[in-house]
Formats: sequence, structure tokens, C-alpha cells
Amino acid sequence: MQITAANDHLIWVELSKKSLLKNLQAFRGLLGGGTKLCPVVKSNAYGHGAAPIAKIIETSGLAGWLAVNSVDEGLELRRRGTKLPVLVLGYVPLERLSDAVLHDLRLTVYNRETVLRLKALKTKKKIYLHLKLETGTNRQGVDLKGALQLAKMIKGSKNLALEGYSTHFANIEDTTDRSFAGRQLQRYQKMLAELEKKGFKAAVNHIACTAASLVFPQTRLQLARIGIGLYGLWPSRETMVSLKEQGSEFRLEPVLSWKTRVAQVKTVAAGEYIGYGCTFRTSRKTKIAVLPVGYYDGYDRKLSNTAYVLIKGKRAPVRGRVCMNLCMADITDIPGVKPEDEVVLLGKQGREQVSAEQLAQWIGTINYEVVTRINPLLPRVVV
Ligand SMILES: Cc1ncc(COP(=O)(O)O)c(C=O)c1O
Repeated sequence: MQITAANDHLIWVELSKKSLLKNLQAFRGLLGGGTKLCPVVKSNAYGHGAAPIAKIIETSGLAGWLAVNSVDEGLELRRRGTKLPVLVLGYVPLERLSDAVLHDLRLTVYNRETVLRLKALKTKKKIYLHLKLETGTNRQGVDLKGALQLAKMIKGSKNLALEGYSTHFANIEDTTDRSFAGRQLQRYQKMLAELEKKGFKAAVNHIACTAASLVFPQTRLQLARIGIGLYGLWPSRETMVSLKEQGSEFRLEPVLSWKTRVAQVKTVAAGEYIGYGCTFRTSRKTKIAVLPVGYYDGYDRKLSNTAYVLIKGKRAPVRGRVCMNLCMADITDIPGVKPEDEVVLLGKQGREQVSAEQLAQWIGTINYEVVTRINPLLPRVVV
């Protein structure tokens, strides 16, 4: 099979621009006019590549904001010319706050120390802050008392602006039961009412992730922070089921494929072992393809003797242990495999597919982790 997208790469990630645009349009349609779309491009855009993904999103004109985890991720977007408002969701060390402000990053705040340091910054810029409210996830966030204190500090400072209130759901992906999320929504609304009653109103309220925006329309508010769905992946099977039950025809298209090429083809006699630890023994004369990909690249070691890859549109089982930079696949039943043939680790080839969910199931995790752990150094090629 000819390699078309990346003739010079050993291992690479292909991004389908068409699928990303379709997903963006699908969410734009779902959210309607009252809710801005805030694609979450943290963690290298969930492993897809923050730079190419943010560029496609921004030029599409379909998103109003972008969200990242760290100040460095935000600065990287700015260096690459992002003009959209960028919200930092994660913690910013006090020493890095001036960097964030200099580059017009919006900040999620929940610590007195952060607000005090921001207040003391000598800048003419307005600093836009989003107060994170604790509603039951018990991760970042403050309770009502803390929120009132921080809101007062922010309001009392000329350079600070209280732009938003946010929270994050604890139990929206893993269940078809929305009662816990419903309680979080109620707490959020109650806190918001108290804050507003005291004169601390904010223009941008945002609490929805992909699953919430899909199955719980009341959570969409002014802004929806959409991550996994934009990449064409479902937050969970439960989300898909819940949506189907609601009669929705909502569709997503995976954006990412992960590929490599055959490095060597060899024949191994029956009764030989393959790879470290002699964990696989051939029961017949076996043809193997040596693949130049390993756990360093994000191909999890738990895939040893478990996964399959796609070669010539057929499934080739991974034999032996996945090494740091290599692994071996059984191609005995796939005739004509040669060095340089394209191998799909994640994605489609012919009529076969290895999905992120399938890889996740093999290694006992979720699709989010599979894609975010693809080594960021590997080239991302937009097709
Ligand atoms: C605070 C916050 N908001 C939004 C998201 C996006 O979630 P999802 O990828 O499920 O849409 C995340 C993801 O981890 C998050 O941490």
C-alpha cells in the first residue's frame, strides 16, 4: 500500500480536516445561537496536535473561544497567532501570572493567593477572570463563602474583571442517570443567584463539557467547553445510549488516524519465541512484521499479545511484548506484506477499523487517555 500523506515519516498521526469541520458544525448546530462554542484544545488537543487543530478551528469561524490547561499551552497558541479569547482551565503558578496577562489569557481562579498576586501586577491590561465554583466534583473550585470573598476582591480591583463563573460535572459520562449532575446544576444555580444578589454578576457562565452539552441541554448556558466530541469521539457508551434514547441522530466522525510502516518481514519457525520475556511462542511457521513503534510513542505496553494492527486491510495480531520502540505483528495469514507497507494502529484501513475505544478496552482505560498519550513529538499531518 502506498503511503500518501507522509512519505518521509516513520510513525505519524493523520488528522481529517473534513471530519473536524463536520464535528464543529454538528456542535455549532446543537448549541444554537445563545451558546458560544469553546473547543478544549488542552493536552495537545487531546493528542491530536494543538497547532493544526486550533488553526482549523479558528479559520472555520465556528468557535468563539479556546480552552487550554496551562499557561504554556496558551502562550503556544498566541505564538502561532491565535486571536480568539483563550481560557486557561488549569492552575497557573503565581510566578507565571504576568506571562498569562501579557498574552491576554483568561484565567480560571479559585485561590486567594492568585487573586492577590494578580491585583498587585502593574499592568494597564484588563485581566479577565473566571471563578470556579465547587458543586460536588471536589476538584478545583470554591464554595459560596470563598466565591463571595474572591468576587469581592476582584470587584474591588480596577485591573481585574469577573468575566465568568464555571464548574465541572463529576458524573455525567459514566452513567445514563443524570441525578448527580442535576444536583450539581442546582448547586451552581443557587450559588450564582447568591453571587448575583450581592452584585457579583458575570457575563459568561459555563459548565458543560461534551457529554453535558449533548444529553443535558439545560447546562449549555453562555459557553460550552467541548473537548472529546470535537475530535469525533464519544465521551462514553452511556452518553451515546442516552442520546439515542432521546431520539437524537447526532453523529460524530473520528478525526485522528495513527499510522506507521513495516520495518522488516521475517519468517519464524514453529516453537520459537517472539520478543522480550518469551511471552509468545509460535505454534506454526509464522510470518511476522516488525513495526517501528513502541510504548515510547504511546503504543501502550498492555497491548502486548492483545491488540491487532491493520495491514493490507486485514487484522494482524500483536505478538510478544510491545517494546520501547518496536513491536511485532503476525502476518502469516496476510500475503504479500513488504517493508514500507502502511500499518494502521488506530483508524480505518479497507473495511477494518481499530477504534480509540477498542484500544482503550484492551488496556483498561478510556478513549481520552489513548489519544492524549500519543507522543506529542510524532508528526501530525492534516489530510
Ligand atoms: C474543566 C474542563 N472542562 C471541559 C472539559 C472537556 O471535557 P470533554 O472532553 O468531555 O468535552 C474538560 C476535560 O477534561 C475539563 O477538564
